[in-house]
Amino acid sequence: MTRVAFIGLGVMGYPMAGHLRRGGHEVTVYNRTAAKAARWVEEYGGASAPTPREAATDRELVLMCVGNDDDIRSVVYGADGALAGMKKSAILVDHTTASASIARELDAACKERGMGFLDAPVSGGQEGAINGRLGIMCGGDADTFAQVKPVLDLYARECTLIGPAGSGQLTKMVNQIALVGLLQGLAEAINFGKRAGLDMEKVIGVISKGVAQSWPLENRWKAMDEVKFDGFGFAVDWMRKDLAICLEEAGRNGARLPATALIDQFYAQVQARGGNRWDTSSLMHLLAND
Ligand SMILES: NC(=O)c1ccc[n+]([C@@H]2O[C@H](COP(=O)([O-])OP(=O)(O)OC[C@H]3O[C@@H](n4cnc5c(N)ncnc54)[C@H](OP(=O)(O)O)[C@@H]3O)[C@@H](O)[C@H]2O)c1
Repeated sequence: MTRVAFIGLGVMGYPMAGHLRRGGHEVTVYNRTAAKAARWVEEYGGASAPTPREAATDRELVLMCVGNDDDIRSVVYGADGALAGMKKSAILVDHTTASASIARELDAACKERGMGFLDAPVSGGQEGAINGRLGIMCGGDADTFAQVKPVLDLYARECTLIGPAGSGQLTKMVNQIALVGLLQGLAEAINFGKRAGLDMEKVIGVISKGVAQSWPLENRWKAMDEVKFDGFGFAVDWMRKDLAICLEEAGRNGARLPATALIDQFYAQVQARGGNRWDTSSLMHLLAND
């Protein structure tokens, strides 16, 4: 049994921390909104702490999943931050989707203190977190990865070390660039099929067995068909945060992202329609309603 802290019990973190408890670990949680931490303890047992520092104190492993770079800084640094409580030899794992530069910054801050660090963003959505079937893309040292992998495997379908610190975040950028292209293509295809008067249930039934098959096709075509995007999935606000990170990184490495930049602007239009928390399949809203 490992003594673990988990910081950030959102859509993703709440079930991920639950898998750690089910896996027999001693878990202390921290969440900014304390009521969520109390609900988690009621559901899974374990303990909650009033600050990230207290949650991280004397833990071998501190995991977190918050929103963005600024949120990471606010739970890691300062008098009440996780680093202030962590012991030498402890390991910090960040599941937040964030920039590669903050991953390298955290890696340096941990190394300075004799601690280990992994950036470990995830893919698989809320369903993947609940079912313990996430793709976890890691950046960091091989030794640190080897120590942490058995714990991450509790909620992973695949957990891979890609390269040094920052590589996990860069891999997540690759994932998001691929994903938004798929979502836009799917929205255009379904809108086209509907306007052509086809039975989309039959269309999806057959094309999902061919080369156009994908997770969004199988899991989001219905939402696109019904133009209903509220109350589930991966929020447009989060995707715009991720695309801003991708576009900024591309500005550094010279990769051209013309379609990604365009789709980012489509998401801005979805936000203008009130879709900030709609699922990212809501690109269809722009096609179905115009
Ligand atoms: N949802 C998905 O399908 C999905 C899939 C893959 C990756 N991700 C990524 O995973 C991360 C979390 O996503 P999520 O959907 O779980 O988000 P969420 O439901 O909005 O949860 C965010 C969590 O971070 C905490 N938090 C945010 N800002 C904070 C701050 N400044 N200080 C302390 N705590 C803070 C929130 O606390 P409160 O409860 O107090 O607000 C909450 O626990 C994001 O980086 C997202 O891009 C999400």
